[in-house]
Amino acid sequence: DYIKELLGLTNLEDLLKARLNIEKVVVIPGDSDENPLVKDEIGKGVATALLKLLKDGDVIAVTGGSTVAAIADQLPKTTKDVTVVPSRGALGEQVEIQANTIAAALANKLGGRYKLLHAPDNLSQNALSSIIADPKIASVLEAIKGSNILIHGIGEAGVLAQRRSTDPEILDKLEKSNAVAEAFGYYFDAKGNIVHQVESIGLKLTDLQHISKVIAVAGGKSKAKAIEAVAINHRQHILVTDEGAAMEILN
Ligand code: F6P
Repeated sequence: DYIKELLGLTNLEDLLKARLNIEKVVVIPGDSDENPLVKDEIGKGVATALLKLLKDGDVIAVTGGSTVAAIADQLPKTTKDVTVVPSRGALGEQVEIQANTIAAALANKLGGRYKLLHAPDNLSQNALSSIIADPKIASVLEAIKGSNILIHGIGEAGVLAQRRSTDPEILDKLEKSNAVAEAFGYYFDAKGNIVHQVESIGLKLTDLQHISKVIAVAGGKSKAKAIEAVAINHRQHILVTDEGAAMEILN
């Protein structure tokens, strides 16, 4: 904390808290756009915050993405009586950074249990309805809906849409609606309005109000607009970010 004080990061954290209306903000030195090691430090920052707040019986829902994946990498091995679940389906991510993969890795580090959601992406409404009727999937969905901690990534709309090989007509829709941000399958404009959502099962945005700790993790100057848009849309209790994003948001 002394080092943070020296680097002026404590001040940045206070300014961001006020600007984004978030209870706790952690700013990691550096910019993950420029230095990939900063993403690991963000992961470490979340791991530390998480270990402080975890209680027996907690159910942690996680999204996919490389930043959330860094948390499991950075966590020391412990023994906690917790369950980890993916917040939603795979959302078109590569398996290494899918929510299921991260949930299992996090549960292993925490010494807890995991429940995984095996549902393909981009299914029709009809197919989704029959999938959620399956008893095994229904029980996982129930655990997800009962989660009391959510850890989610935030991305730039264009970057995420490309990464997910999104259909051209959706890309067009995103561009026309000035989408700037993406979080757990929802795309937002700069004012935090939802402009598109990927069909999937699991947590919906409206479920977030029942989750007692929503932790957002995203860094890099390039994500500044996205972080702001998502913070307008829904309440986060903790944001772990980096100096690059923080400076850009405050500018
Ligand atoms: O697809 C999962 C997800 O968490 C998105 O909701 C988010 O926009 C993205 O990953 C963040 O990914 P990264 O941390 O790799 O930038």
